[in-house]
Amino acid sequence: MGNGPSKLKEAQRKRFRARNQRESLSSTICSTASRENSSNQWYRFSYGRRYQNVENPNDEDEMARLQLLHYLVKSSWQSDFSSPIAGQLESGNCRVLDCGCGPGTWLMELGSDNPDSYFTGIDCCPVFPTDIKPRNVEFQCANILDGLPFDDDTFDFVHMRFMVGSFTSEQWNFSVIPELVRVCKPGGFLECMESDMKWMHSGPATECLMKTSFSFLASHGIEGIIHPHLHEYLRRTNRLANIHYAHKNIPVGKPGELTFQVAQQTLEASKVHLSEFLQISHDEYDELIRIACREFEEYKTMVTMFRFWAQKI
Ligand SMILES: C[S@@+](CC[C@H](N)C(=O)[O-])C[C@H]1O[C@@H](n2cnc3c(N)ncnc32)[C@H](O)[C@@H]1O
Repeated sequence: MGNGPSKLKEAQRKRFRARNQRESLSSTICSTASRENSSNQWYRFSYGRRYQNVENPNDEDEMARLQLLHYLVKSSWQSDFSSPIAGQLESGNCRVLDCGCGPGTWLMELGSDNPDSYFTGIDCCPVFPTDIKPRNVEFQCANILDGLPFDDDTFDFVHMRFMVGSFTSEQWNFSVIPELVRVCKPGGFLECMESDMKWMHSGPATECLMKTSFSFLASHGIEGIIHPHLHEYLRRTNRLANIHYAHKNIPVGKPGELTFQVAQQTLEASKVHLSEFLQISHDEYDELIRIACREFEEYKTMVTMFRFWAQKI
């Protein structure tokens, strides 16, 4: 085969990159124009919280929430991943990529459990540790929407999780999933874990917060739900075999429980944007959260987490 298809892919990647840069620039301009804030190369600051993009804070509170979320995943799934890659990780020389790694908790855990394999985390903001980390773990700043800074077929295992609020459907379909598949080796595994921004059995205050969250994200072109589409996005690449799926419905529970704490922090993370979107004060938003938290036990609210994994052909 000639290099026609790869040239075409490169041209497509350039077009996606240009379009994604235009979109993220215009949404940043729109959102920064209207509220008290400042920004630098990596972050925006708004009402005392630090943000990576239009809707996701990425300050210390957010990193603490993500660490808690990691332990919630571990306790509810009893595993860090579902792909059949454990043997290869243990034997060594297995190359793993975590895309949108945040504080890097998942990657560092795998790195210390598998000292003979190699782990790379990328995030568009430098929120990962730079000094204290296992020697076989490295982090880089990269934006997947600009194309990943790795050659085709580099990694044995490509992992990404909790990015539902970061991409539009078009980005998922045409940039993100194809890019993850591109850097995965033939025979390697790709795994995505997500939790949609829709909780089951929610009471009226929780429902109100969820609906507001959807409207807010929709106003930035983000759907906030990936579950019904992800299988199709993976299938359409025509490079993945045996696409597997598993999910867990996790009760939010009551105060003091891990899921409750994560749920509460998740609602708090959206306070600045959603209170402005609802045109209510931060105190009024806090009251809405208090009511939602009381509803969790009464309505038996549940959060669904799901994983898709497949092998590259
Ligand atoms: C909700 S956090 C999930 C973090 C991590 N996967 C975990 O499980 O803790 C989303 C992360 O994705 C990063 N992110 C968002 N958009 C990105 C992009 N286009 N490219 C790379 N990273 C991105 C954010 O900076 C943030 O750290």
